[in-house]
Formats: sequence, structure tokens, C-alpha cells
Amino acid sequence: MSFDRTVKIAPSILSADFANFGQEIEAVEAQGADWIHVDVMDGHFVPNLTFGPPMCAAIRKHISTVMDVHLMIAPVDPYIEAFAEAGADVLTAHLEAGAHTHRTLQAIRGAGCKAGLALNPATGIEEVEYLLDMVDLICVMTVNPGFGGQKFIHSQVQKVRRLREMIGDRPIHIEIDGGITPETAPLMTEAGADVLVAGSAVFKGGSVSDPAPYGENMRAIRAAVAG
Ligand code: DX5
Ligand code: ZN
Repeated sequence: MSFDRTVKIAPSILSADFANFGQEIEAVEAQGADWIHVDVMDGHFVPNLTFGPPMCAAIRKHISTVMDVHLMIAPVDPYIEAFAEAGADVLTAHLEAGAHTHRTLQAIRGAGCKAGLALNPATGIEEVEYLLDMVDLICVMTVNPGFGGQKFIHSQVQKVRRLREMIGDRPIHIEIDGGITPETAPLMTEAGADVLVAGSAVFKGGSVSDPAPYGENMRAIRAAVAG
């Protein structure tokens, strides 16, 4: 995985057909997805449940781009090795998930993954200052994590702008997760984000038997950020 700041679209499979992840991933990649975003929820850190390492290992073979695993779980550390073995390229933990984020990030890199750090909407960026040398990606949540299809929280635009300044020329991706549409995406790329997670806005209107809307939806986001 090489680093660049071009805009990347990472469809979240939270909005895909759960009975058909393999084909959904292949369809959305064929339609132009840059990364595949995989939401892991534990019903404890967030009020919803999805799946764990065996599902990640099963879908890994259907992903030919980048497997971007977003862990909405606490604790994180006991599961890092399992998600690394399942094939995560980027493994993102929440700052709010435990007291020892520095150790968690070290363990993620130690397991051979790119280390991501996610921030809930209420968390300030000063928490990140002493972790900048430990991270490959910072995920700014633009909804409260747990569900797809929620409304974008506008206060996070300013947060991304300040974070982008803090990062300077370090090779750190800024990822945005939640409520991304052709209307909200340009606010974030202009503020300095490069990875746009989008679930409902990508998968709406399509299916594995009719995947063209996935491509149209992603092109609409790309056109909005280019214009
Ligand atoms: C929310 C998840 C997101 C979610 C985004 O907790 O982390 O990845 O799937 O969904 P949309 O794009 O529908 O807001
Ligand atoms: Zn996510």
C-alpha cells in the first residue's frame, strides 16, 4: 500500500447485502471503489453488532483493493492479532476504546497492519498530538458510530481542517466516516480529507444483479469533489 493524498472512495459494506458480501465487494470494486471499508461492532462500545475476524477472513479473498477494517469494539488489544491474520490492510481502533491508545497502535503496526485511529465527534484533536508518529490514518467520525444512514455532523469540518494543519507533511491519511454524500464530500476534501467512507450513498438503488447504480453513485461523489 503506497501513500498518496488523492481522493479515495471506501464503500462501507454495512450498507451491502449481508448474505452476499463476496459478490457485493466484487461488484462495488468493479464499479470503481478504491478501498473496502469493513465495520466491526461489538454491541458494547457501540449499540449495534456486526461480525468478527472469521467474516473478515472469509471476505478477504473477494477484496483486491485495500481492506480497511474499522473496529468499533472495546477492548481492542486482545483482537488485534486475529484481525491482522484475517487480512486487514488498515486496522483502525477508536481513541475512546481504551486508556492505552499508544500501546494499541504499536500492537497494530507490530501485527503488520497500517495503524488507524478513529475519533468520535465529541473527541478533540489535541488527543492525537503525541500519537502522530504512530498512525497511518486518522478517521474522523462525522456521525456517532453504530449505524449507517445517519446525518452528517457539520462541526467536524473544522476539526478536519485543524487536523490537516497538525499533520503537515507526515504520510497520514485523513478518513471521513458517516453521512458522506455528493453534498457533504466536497466540504471534507476541501478541508483536507482524502479517504471518504460511504455506505448508504454508494449502495442505494443497486444490487449484485444491478450494480450500475453503485458506479453512478461513486461517480456523483467524485464529480462533486472535483468540481
Ligand atoms: C458507522 C460506520 C460507517 C457507516 C457509514 O458507525 O462506521 O462506516 O457504515 O454509513 P453511511 O455512509 O450510510 O453514513
Ligand atoms: Zn466505519
